[in-house]
Amino acid sequence: GKRIAVLTSGGDSAGMSASGGVAYAVYEGYQGLVDGGSMIKQMRWEDVRGWLSEGGTLIGTARCKAFMERAGRLTAANNMVEKGIDALIICGGDGSLTGADKFRSEWPGLMEELVSTGRRTENEVKHHKHLNIVGLVGSIDNDLSGTDATIGCYSSLERICQSIDYIDATAFSHQRAFVIEVMGRHCGWLALMAGVSCGADFVFCPENPPSENWEEEMCGIIKKHREMGKRKTIVVVAEGAHDRQLNHISPTMVKDLLSNKVGLDTRVTTLGHVQRGGPPCAYDRMLATLQGVEAVKAVLESRPETPSPVICIVENKIVRKPLVDAIAKTKEVAANIARKDFAAAMKGRDAE
Ligand code: F6P
Repeated sequence: GKRIAVLTSGGDSAGMSASGGVAYAVYEGYQGLVDGGSMIKQMRWEDVRGWLSEGGTLIGTARCKAFMERAGRLTAANNMVEKGIDALIICGGDGSLTGADKFRSEWPGLMEELVSTGRRTENEVKHHKHLNIVGLVGSIDNDLSGTDATIGCYSSLERICQSIDYIDATAFSHQRAFVIEVMGRHCGWLALMAGVSCGADFVFCPENPPSENWEEEMCGIIKKHREMGKRKTIVVVAEGAHDRQLNHISPTMVKDLLSNKVGLDTRVTTLGHVQRGGPPCAYDRMLATLQGVEAVKAVLESRPETPSPVICIVENKIVRKPLVDAIAKTKEVAANIARKDFAAAMKGRDAE
């Protein structure tokens, strides 16, 4: 039978743990693959008991430098052959998944090198001609094209909403304004959905460029809301909106405007890593579990000629897509945003 190893890589997100529990776990992401030994551990039921409802990833994760170098990947390949592992299920963001696909394409060359340098015998690599890779998308940012939701994004959204609800108490008691910065890297999904879910007065996200006169526009809307009887003001700023090359809207700029132009007592709150923690919501547990099952099926059905799949959810159906396509599409959207072609970027996202 297949010896399947599971690893989580990149930033943690709630629900990553639910996708564990298959045969082997690689601890600390790609670093564990490079380090080998006890970092690659066979898992049994009792090892993963209770994991489904835990936040973060219980097998650890890292943003690993060694794996970015060929030498690191060669050592990782050696460790895998040593343990007899021929399939890897990787849960991470686009960077981690790109690394995975590169590893797969290099694999035959890595095997040759292990033999030619005497680290492994022909016999040992005989059953490792091909590496089987399956991707699962775990990230709070919901930034991968091709899937409607990444594992962890709804838990994070939930946490952001709870946090804004807490802030609301002070806001309406004191009739204050709050500028709330949320995560999402280059993606505005968390900011936009949090804004909608919490009745924010204004949202800044990287995909939507502010108009020439955004300052008057925002102040006008907020004044109008106050005149209509609102006692509080909430403005959500995606961290990606401060990008210098893009909108360059910082929470402090917004705060100064609200204080000086609208005359509101204003505070800035950066939610930070509370957005990544806490137990996963039911949706993320379901997503991780169903996608985990599909990932194992994909491993078992894989042939050397099938491109590495990534497991996605599209209109509530769990589907496989070619990993490279999903990543290329994601990069294209990012490139369009970088050159401020927002219409093309949005089209790219919608098309998926
Ligand atoms: O990708 C998840 C994320 O939380 C982003 O939203 C954020 O930009 C980044 O990771 C923060 O990274 P770190 O935890 O390494 O500071």
